[in-house]
Amino acid sequence: MAQKAWGGRFTGGTDRLVEQFTESISFDARLAPYDVKGSQAHATMLAEIGLITSEEKETICTTLDEILQEIERGEFEFCIELEDIHMHIEQELTKRTGDVGRKLHTGRSRNDQVATDVKLFLRDAIDHIIKLLGDVQTAFVERCEQDLDVVLPAFTHLQRAQPVMAVHYWLAWCEKFERDRLRMLDCRTRANVSPLGCAALAGTSLPIDRARTAELLGFDAVSPNSLDVSSDRDFLIEFVSDLAIIAVHLSNWAEEWIIWFTTEFNFLKLTDAYTTGSSIMPQKRNPDVLELIRGKSARVIAANQHLLALTKGLPMAYNRDLQEDKIPLFDAYDTIAACLELAAAIIETATLNREQIESRLEEGFLDATTLMEYLIKKGVPMRTGHSTVGALVSLCEQKKCRLADLSLEDLQQACEQIGEDVYDCLGVQNAVRALVSTGSGGPKPVAEQLGRWQKIIGSRK
Ligand code: ARG
Repeated sequence: MAQKAWGGRFTGGTDRLVEQFTESISFDARLAPYDVKGSQAHATMLAEIGLITSEEKETICTTLDEILQEIERGEFEFCIELEDIHMHIEQELTKRTGDVGRKLHTGRSRNDQVATDVKLFLRDAIDHIIKLLGDVQTAFVERCEQDLDVVLPAFTHLQRAQPVMAVHYWLAWCEKFERDRLRMLDCRTRANVSPLGCAALAGTSLPIDRARTAELLGFDAVSPNSLDVSSDRDFLIEFVSDLAIIAVHLSNWAEEWIIWFTTEFNFLKLTDAYTTGSSIMPQKRNPDVLELIRGKSARVIAANQHLLALTKGLPMAYNRDLQEDKIPLFDAYDTIAACLELAAAIIETATLNREQIESRLEEGFLDATTLMEYLIKKGVPMRTGHSTVGALVSLCEQKKCRLADLSLEDLQQACEQIGEDVYDCLGVQNAVRALVSTGSGGPKPVAEQLGRWQKIIGSRK
């Protein structure tokens, strides 16, 4: 039976059910590299202030390296009696080094230790998510060249609205994922403050040097209040909230492409590598990966709520409830990382079904707003122009034709300001070309946007 590190005041053993109920090793073992890193920094500092000798520090650091290697090779045996990763590593260190190992936990508690481990994990996780978001943006920017001349209908209420360049769509996603990147960077700044040395909740009477461990671990600052550290999980809630926003963006994109992949829309071709078949209907090719990206977003949104519910009722400072934070944290992170990786691959390999898109582009009066704006330029008040074009659209519906097919006579009957030049703004190609305002979906402003994005992507390489 493993000896409990906290067992001094206990005479009886722990109930087996309690051990099963309170363990976290089944999910916090992945913190091992961060736990070792934190302990090595702590030991280095303890040696520098003279609480352990430099030989003891060396023994601790090299033994911790050995233990970590064994964990990483899968040779280390975990058991629930030792609760969590912190206990496992410390107990093993003590088993191997005796009294030297028994000094490591000087001036620290598992409460600041676990906060340190999670923050170190979080830094790597944030960096990885930032990289993956960048890969998705790169995939969109790099497919722009091939779609440069494609015009797509843009929708509101999923009803055809106005035409835009296909590239405008790709860069819209780049903007959303850029805000996600910036949120990640921002979250990193706030998270990168060292909890180590706050001990259980009150700090310590020992002359520890918190600035030194912060420096050794690459933290930007030392947290100013030990009670706050012992209870704080804001950094993790913030990270998972930011992941939830990414999940929503990914889900929106997946949903759109699922619609575009239907026979009814038929805008998009997905490759075999990223679609799956049906076990009964031989003809089927299903966008399961996109559906799962949409579906998995629910887990991330739930993880966000999980963390808020977990922490909302807690008094200061550490409470064991906080152990449950890692489950949603790891799940949300793993889920988003997997979704982003697949998203980039799908964006790279999908192709637009140009013929299909083009053959139906003139349906749905995508040029109606441009016609109204033509009337405004001719001095017609906007609201008058709006109802005039509305009437013309209904005339077209009767005649089963496009606005561009109406005779000048018909057009002038609706509004005498209309001249021969009206045909320069009618038809989808003319209508999209007419879009010139900053940030709009016409070819000129879109080319400017693309130039900007190509620069951004180029500068990251
Ligand atoms: N496994 C624990 C957690 O994840 C470590 C901290 C335990 N602290 C305590 N006072 N029991 O939160």
